[in-house]
Amino acid sequence: MAGYEFGNPEVVEEELDVLIIGGGMAACGAAVEIMRWSEGLDLKIKLVDKAAMDRSGAVAQGLSAINTYMGDNDPADYVRMVRTDLMGIIREDLVYDVGRHVDGSVHLFEHWGLPIWKRPGDEDKPLTGGGKPVRSGKWQIMINGESYKWIVAEAAKKSLGTENIQEHVFIVKLVNDKNDPSRVAGAVGFSVREDKVYIYKFKCCLLVCGGAVNVFRPRSVGEGQGRAWYPVWNAGSTYAMALEAGAEGTMLENRFVPARFKDGYGPVGAWFLLFKAKSMNANGEDYQAKNAHLLKEHNYGTYAQGHSMGTCLRNHLMMEELRNGEGPIIMDTPSALAKLAETMTPKEIKHLEAEAWEDFLDMTIGQCGIWAGENIEPDKEVSELMPTEPYLLGSHAGCAGLWVSGPTDIPGVPEDWSWGYRGMTTITGLFTAGDGVGASGHKFSSGSFTEGRLAAKSMVKFALDNKDWQPELEDSVEDLLEEIYRPVRNFLERKDYTTAIDVNPHYVTPRMLQFRLQKIMDEYVAGVSTMYQTNAKYLEIAERKLGMLKEDSLKTRAKDLHELLRAWENYHRIIAAEAHMKHIQFREETRYPGYYYRADYRDLDDENWRVFVNSTYDRKTKQWSLRKVPYVQLIKD
Ligand code: FAD
Ligand code: ADX
Repeated sequence: MAGYEFGNPEVVEEELDVLIIGGGMAACGAAVEIMRWSEGLDLKIKLVDKAAMDRSGAVAQGLSAINTYMGDNDPADYVRMVRTDLMGIIREDLVYDVGRHVDGSVHLFEHWGLPIWKRPGDEDKPLTGGGKPVRSGKWQIMINGESYKWIVAEAAKKSLGTENIQEHVFIVKLVNDKNDPSRVAGAVGFSVREDKVYIYKFKCCLLVCGGAVNVFRPRSVGEGQGRAWYPVWNAGSTYAMALEAGAEGTMLENRFVPARFKDGYGPVGAWFLLFKAKSMNANGEDYQAKNAHLLKEHNYGTYAQGHSMGTCLRNHLMMEELRNGEGPIIMDTPSALAKLAETMTPKEIKHLEAEAWEDFLDMTIGQCGIWAGENIEPDKEVSELMPTEPYLLGSHAGCAGLWVSGPTDIPGVPEDWSWGYRGMTTITGLFTAGDGVGASGHKFSSGSFTEGRLAAKSMVKFALDNKDWQPELEDSVEDLLEEIYRPVRNFLERKDYTTAIDVNPHYVTPRMLQFRLQKIMDEYVAGVSTMYQTNAKYLEIAERKLGMLKEDSLKTRAKDLHELLRAWENYHRIIAAEAHMKHIQFREETRYPGYYYRADYRDLDDENWRVFVNSTYDRKTKQWSLRKVPYVQLIKD
C-alpha cells in the first residue's frame, strides 16, 4: 500500500532454554549471574528489551544514590524498616533474602567503575577494602551515577554476549504450553524498528519489564505531557503479561505516590536526607509536627515508630494541608544549603551548590529544566513539592507485583511460600524480579539487580531439571501474528473511510485510548482529581467502564510501528489498571493513607485486613478471582 510499507511482517522463530524479557536492573543482574551458573552447560540464553539497554528502564537517566546497601546494618533491621514503610504487610522471607545478598551486587557495581562517594580519608578505598560510603540515610549511599545504567548494561552485555541480546523488540504476550496451561512455553513480540514479529519458545523466562506509568491521568498534561516521575516506557507489561498467563498477583492494590519537586518530578531523598532540608506549608509551619495527631486517627499510626513512618503517611500529613487550603508545600532549599555552608570554605560551598544541581542532572534532568526555565537558584529560592499521580511498582516505596516462590532456609516460613525455584511465579517456568515481585518493596536499583541474580540461578536449575521437556505453544503462529498486528490491520483496512486519518469511526488512536483510561482511573480509582479517594460505588462504575475500554482496545489503530508499540503498551496498562482496581475494591479498608483512601472504609483494619490480597485472571473468561492470604511475621518487632 503506497506510503505504508509495512503490515506483512517477517516471522522470526527461535527456540531457547531461557529468555530474559526486559533489559533493566533485574534483567542485567540475571544476565551477569546466569553465565556463572551455566558455564559449560550449553544452554541457549537470550535477552530482549523494547529499548536500548544502555539507557533503558527506570535507571535510564542515571541515579544519585543507591538506596539499598546494608554495610554495617543487619538485614533483619532492613526487614523492620520495609515493614514499617509498607504498613505492616510484606513477604519478610523475600525482603530478608534481598537484604542478605544486596551488598555483593553493589560491590560489583563499584568494581565495574561506578563512582561511590566515600567518607573523608577513604576516597581511594573500595567498599570491599574497608572504604566507608557517604550515607544520605541509614540505607542509602551516594554515587556519581549519571552513567549507572551504562556501566551495569556493559557488564550484562559482556557476560551474555551482544549476539544473545536483541534490542528494540517489544514483547506483547506470553504463550502458555499447549499441553499444560499452568506453564509458559513462549513469548511473542515485534520489532519497533522493522516489520518483524518474533516468536520465542523456551523452557523458562524471566519477565522483568518494570512497573506501570501513565495508567492514571498525570498532573503534567498539555504542554507538560510526557513528564512523569516514573519512566514513561514501563507500561505495566510485567503485570499484564504475567496475569494474562495465569500467574497470581499480590498486593496490586498498592501503588506509589511520590512527593516530588512540582512539575519537574525531582526526587526528594537527597534533599531531605543528605542536605537536611525542611518542608513546610504556606504559613511556614512544619506540617508533619502540626498534623502528627492524625496518626492517632483511624489506626493510621499503627506501624509508625516515632519519627519513622511509612512513605504514605508522610504524604498523608502533607495532603491534609493541601485539602485544607494550606498549600503550597514548600521545600526550603536555601535554608538547608545555608546551614550546611556555615562550616564550609567558599570552595566547599561552590561544591555544595554543584551537588544540589548534580543530584538532578544525574537522575531527573527535567527538574533542572524547570529550575533553569523558572530562574530558580536552589540556594536562593524555595521550590514547591507536590504528590504525583499514582504509579504501580514493586521495588521502590511500593509493593505491587506477583506472588513468587521464596527462599527455603528462613525459620518460620510457611511451606506454601516456596515451590522449589526462587523467583518463580505460580505459573511453571515464569520467573520475575525487581518491580515484578510483589509484597517486597524498598529493593531499589541494587535490590532489583540482586533479585535478577537470584532468579538467574534458579532458572539454570529449572532448565536443567526440565532438559527433556519440549515447549509447544497453545496458539498457532498464524493466530499470534493476526493478534499482534491487529492494530495495523485496523488502520490499513479502514484508513480511507475518511479524509483525516485521526478521525474515523472504525478505529481509535492509541493516544485517545490512553486518555480514556487515564480519565477513568483518575476520576474513579483514586487519582489526583479526587485527592486519591474512592469508594465502592466509584469502583463499580470504573469496573464497567474499564470492561468497555478493554473491548474497545481491540479497535486501536496503528499507522506505524511506533503506534503499534503505543497500542500494546496501552493494552498492558489496561490490564494492570483493572488488576489495581479489583484489588482496591476487594480490600475494604484504608491500608495506605496518603497513597489512596477508601472513603467508605476509612480505618486501617488489622483485624480483618492484615493479610495479603492475591488475584488471578482468566484471559479466556475475563474473570478475576481474589483471595486473602495470611500474613506471617518472621522477624520480631
Ligand atoms: P527497570 O530497571 O525499569 O527495567 C525495565 C526494563 O523492561 C527496561 O529495560 C524496559 O525497556 C523493559 N521493558 C518494558 N516493557 C517491555 C516489553 N513489553 N518488552 C520488552 N522489554 C520491556 N533506586 C536507587 O537505588 N536509587 C535511586 O536514587 C533511585 N531513584 C529512582 C528514581 C526514579 C525516577 C525511579 C523511577 C526509580 C528510582 N530507583 C532508584 C529505583 C530503581 O530504578 C528501580 O528499583 C529498578 O530500576 C527496578 O528494576 P527493574 O529491572 O524491575 O525495572
Ligand atoms: S528516588 O528513588 O526518586 O530518588 P527518593 O528521593 O524519594 O526516591 O528516595 C530516596 C530514598 O530516600 C528512599 O530510600 C526513600 O525511602 C528515602 N526518603 C525520601 N524522603 C524521605 C524522608 N522524608 N524521610 C526518610 N526517608 C526518605
